Amino acid sequence: MIKRPRRLRLNKKIRSLVRETSLHPQDLIYPMFVTEGRGVKQEIAAMPGQYRWSVDMLPAAIREVEEAGVEHIMLFGIPAPEDHDECGSAAWASDGIVQRAIAEIKSHSDIFITTDVCLCEYTSHGHCGQLDADGYVNNDKTLELLAKTALSHVEAGADMVAPSDMMDGRVAAIRARLDEAGHVNTPIMSYAVKYASNFYGPFREAANSAPQHGDRKSYQMDYHNGREAELEAALDVAEGADIIMVKPALSYLDVIREVADLVDVPVAAYSVSGEYAMVKAAAKMGYIDEARIICEMAVSTFRAGCGIYLTYFAKELAKYIDEGRIG
Ligand code: PBG
Repeated sequence: MIKRPRRLRLNKKIRSLVRETSLHPQDLIYPMFVTEGRGVKQEIAAMPGQYRWSVDMLPAAIREVEEAGVEHIMLFGIPAPEDHDECGSAAWASDGIVQRAIAEIKSHSDIFITTDVCLCEYTSHGHCGQLDADGYVNNDKTLELLAKTALSHVEAGADMVAPSDMMDGRVAAIRARLDEAGHVNTPIMSYAVKYASNFYGPFREAANSAPQHGDRKSYQMDYHNGREAELEAALDVAEGADIIMVKPALSYLDVIREVADLVDVPVAAYSVSGEYAMVKAAAKMGYIDEARIICEMAVSTFRAGCGIYLTYFAKELAKYIDEGRIG
């Protein structure tokens, strides 16, 4: 036999020499939820180990994130129920929940803050944009609201904004508004390839952001489609997106590969709430080894082509990488 692939698997040292995929803690982004109140650290039922934090509790929570070796967070705001309205105006309030959270975090830490820019957590109907009389999410009217929201996050001190609404043209609208205000160096990470996915269920419980009627299929992508990802990614790059995200991750590795081959900007993948919940539930039942599954899911996502990974397991993963459990 001339070729024996097992030769390069003989021991740990040879395996690590020929490894194709490597991960670093600095490639990870940890999503966090911020809510009203004081002294709040409320566990999310469908996401054990993840919490809604009140603003005053964030500095300590962030210290833990940093101690784990994670340098980036993604912030999601959960406003008070009475602050919801038809167009989601609490999203761009200068004293809104995310804006106050950013200021509080930045007064204690220089952790890199990305904000999720969307309206669904702030609208009374739970859709990601402004509705027409017939219930259609009006694309072009929503652009203005998203641009205002992104600018208010940046003015509060956000380092990067990440629009997740899936309106057409929103990257261009946000870029123009940020540039006009002089924020030419603030990057946009676009949720460019975001599917209408059943894997977002636990998140919607966490953020109270499930649509009150209908679903998100008129703006998020149909999961039967792969080629359409190329169009979405190319459009957002052309509009000025600095980083392109694919979401979810685990069931969409083919899409991540396709997008990574196509674009010349960094590619991120978001391992979403449903992926987290499944791992947690199966581990609790004793059906899987949680740590090993977390590592394998992460490595496979990087192998598919992403260079940035958003995951609720960021703190655990950073530790596993440091311990050499994965390369
Ligand atoms: C807001 C948003 C969602 C997620 C990220 N940003 C929910 C949705 O689109 O319904 C999902 C994140 C997760 O499931 O972990 N539009």
